[in-house]
Amino acid sequence: MPAADHLAEGMNVPDPLELFRAWFVEAEAGEPDLPEAAHLATVSAEGRPSNRVVLTRLREDGTFEFHTNRQSLKGVELARNPHAALTWHWKSLGRQVRVEGAAAMMTDEESDAYWQQRAPGSQISATLSEQSQPVASREELETRHREFESRYGYFPVPRPSHWGGYRVTPLRIEFWAHRDDRLHDRLEFRRDGVGEPWATARLQP
Ligand SMILES: Cc1cc2nc3c(=O)[nH]c(=O)nc-3n(C[C@H](O)[C@H](O)[C@H](O)COP(=O)(O)O)c2cc1C
Repeated sequence: MPAADHLAEGMNVPDPLELFRAWFVEAEAGEPDLPEAAHLATVSAEGRPSNRVVLTRLREDGTFEFHTNRQSLKGVELARNPHAALTWHWKSLGRQVRVEGAAAMMTDEESDAYWQQRAPGSQISATLSEQSQPVASREELETRHREFESRYGYFPVPRPSHWGGYRVTPLRIEFWAHRDDRLHDRLEFRRDGVGEPWATARLQP
């Protein structure tokens, strides 16, 4: 279905999460690489933004989840200021989705469930990496990885307490679709809080 038709439909969709789900199904089919990858923006205590790519999932409860090292730059920034923004760009479909809201830590049980799906090599790396801290060389990282494997040569690797999930509760979601002559579609959904109705607006491109 052309993007324009979906956005026209979107005007009648009271729940933008349904529209996200529909677009994500199409992204999984049409975007060859990592449709779940999104840019996550956080803000420092001084108000300076930073962003990076994380893997995301829209949960049944309507929040967007990602997993990371809670002592990383993003983790430190979210601890001081939970406001976050996520952007997906599905280039092959000419679509962008933007989500804004506050991020909260997921429970240990939820973080464990995701952790257990990860490959052992990734679990080891996540365990030994002090994400976002300097390291003298690549060799040092590889040595640490090998030592971990030989010292603890067992699986599954337990989830370290510094690694876990966050869920972003959306208060604003914007769908963007490429159209000819730069007359792109932009459909915005806003709400004041969870359970509140979504207000819809078509934005100029
Ligand atoms: C495609 C892709 C997916 C990524 N997924 C994650 C992820 O799910 N979690 C994560 O912590 N870092 C992920 N990263 C690495 C982050 O972009 C980033 O380098 C790292 O989290 C450190 O960010 P920070 O120093 O701003 O906290 C991914 C990078 C790419 C390119």
